[in-house]
Amino acid sequence: MSTQQEPNVDAVREYWDSHTLGMQYVKDRSLEPGTAEFFAHIRPWMNPYKFPWIMQRIEREAALLRGKHLLEIGCGMGFDSLEFLKRGVRVTATDLTPNAVRLATRHFALEGVRPESVHTENALRLSFPDETFDAVWSNGVLHATGDTRRAVAEARRVLKTGGRAIISHFYRKPSWMYLVSRLGREPIEHGTEDPPVNEFYRDEEILSFFEGFQVIEAVHEHHRAIPVAKTGFKAALYTYGFAPLYNLLPAGVALRFAYKLSVTAIKV
Ligand SMILES: C[S@@+](CC[C@H](N)C(=O)[O-])C[C@H]1O[C@@H](n2cnc3c(N)ncnc32)[C@H](O)[C@@H]1O
Repeated sequence: MSTQQEPNVDAVREYWDSHTLGMQYVKDRSLEPGTAEFFAHIRPWMNPYKFPWIMQRIEREAALLRGKHLLEIGCGMGFDSLEFLKRGVRVTATDLTPNAVRLATRHFALEGVRPESVHTENALRLSFPDETFDAVWSNGVLHATGDTRRAVAEARRVLKTGGRAIISHFYRKPSWMYLVSRLGREPIEHGTEDPPVNEFYRDEEILSFFEGFQVIEAVHEHHRAIPVAKTGFKAALYTYGFAPLYNLLPAGVALRFAYKLSVTAIKV
């Protein structure tokens, strides 16, 4: 495999290994990462708890997957996998970075749940044989790998025929976040530096990644400008200028400019 096809994998690994999602929400620096207090501290900021539609999606899928085997790609600290495990789904949780794997392993042990495995995997080159899993879950990951089309194809490869890919979410354009990130030219969503790869796509392009799937749901999410952790001049412009004005738009209009698209699809 040439480095051209995986242009940023080392940079991506390096970034996420030192910016495991959740660390930016730690306000109490005395907390030791990997302790019960640490996970409780950041939990309200993490996807399934912060965004109710993510928890609803986990509940919907877990009801279909009880006793079946789900692969999570890019598990971070393991909050999503944890919710599947609590609902009786067999889970293999994976991430590109050793730090995420360490934290997720610790998290599961503290919660008393038993995954099938927790280990490092590259979404672009999964180590599993074809047709291994009943479902693949990936939340906020595939657009950050450097080759989104290939990551979706890899997810398809390891799914059994009839298996479900639940990808929450892709970054979309046109969207308010795309506009802000183009105008701002500095991280608005992330506390410090942005990840090295964070691709925005048009809806048609995202759906074209799902070759060999039947797409059963594709929904716009995050149509309102959300609070950001960052401080400084541009963040203030965003918080006190852009966000309140933008959020006056009627929902029907704002939904067209939502910044995320989540897709659920079945392998055919
Ligand atoms: C925005 S974080 C999301 C983490 C987690 N899904 C969550 O919602 O808390 C992106 C994650 O994708 C992982 N990631 C990035 N590129 C990857 C790749 N090629 N293979 C596997 N994981 C990858 C990162 O290590 C990071 O943990």
